[in-house]
Amino acid sequence: MAEIDINIDNIDTKEDEETDMGALIDMVFIMENEKIYQELIREIPLSLGKSTSKKERDEQGLKSPTLAYGEIEYQTFGVILEKIKKVYGKPDVGTSGSSGFCQVRGGTFYDLGCGTGKPLLAAATLYPFDVCIGIEILEGLFTLSTAAVVSYNVKGKAKGLDSQLQTLKGDLLNVKFKDWRDGDVVFCNSTCFDDKIMDKLALIANGMKKGSFFITLTRRLPSNDFVVLEHELHRMSWGDATIFIHQKISEPRDFTPFPEYE
Ligand SMILES: C[S@@+](CC[C@H](N)C(=O)[O-])C[C@H]1O[C@@H](n2cnc3c(N)ncnc32)[C@H](O)[C@@H]1O
Repeated sequence: MAEIDINIDNIDTKEDEETDMGALIDMVFIMENEKIYQELIREIPLSLGKSTSKKERDEQGLKSPTLAYGEIEYQTFGVILEKIKKVYGKPDVGTSGSSGFCQVRGGTFYDLGCGTGKPLLAAATLYPFDVCIGIEILEGLFTLSTAAVVSYNVKGKAKGLDSQLQTLKGDLLNVKFKDWRDGDVVFCNSTCFDDKIMDKLALIANGMKKGSFFITLTRRLPSNDFVVLEHELHRMSWGDATIFIHQKISEPRDFTPFPEYE
């Protein structure tokens, strides 16, 4: 596995800055939008995602722990997006550039390994991205995620949400199938991913634009092209996990697709 040399000078650990950050996060906004989100996900409880994933893995003899299922909590996700909107993505903060990221509307959000699609629904309720795209490898979860998109297109749009949502069935490491390097905010619930996947994920992510954000769970992205802005323990569906918010500090690097996907 590649050595990680993260610039810890950029990790926000000062107490007064953390207090300021807390004051900027609009929990009322998050909780108001959670009501819409809860309505959108009513038909897809965590238990359904878990059982659908398990059934397919059992039936197909898929033993890899990297396919384990779990979900992020809405409010945790909301706090992360608020931090990007209100602090890290502000114009001229970090490598966010003169226009910043997630400042008015627009941009592309990805969820790599989107399960039943909940982070896409969450993202669309928290910020008006142009498009939110999920990639999921298991057929059963992908089918549930498409139903979630249909529900969003009816109920979410009726509530005034206007991001376009899309889910794709495929392997997140296969950029020939879907190239996600144009993402402004890329989310990956990577708790169960192994070193091999993380290394490959990082090689692809090095092709992302300067200033873009990459969020991982439990495991840091093994790349010197990103800085870790913060790493904090948060509650998830399966217990506590550390969330890493990374920002790209370099211009996009070239990337040659992995030979197994040629
Ligand atoms: C921990 S779950 C996260 C679900 C969702 N993103 C969330 O946070 O609520 C990880 C998901 O990644 C999917 N996955 C694992 N490896 C993948 C791969 N190579 N390509 C696409 N999806 C993958 C799994 O099937 C699973 O649904």
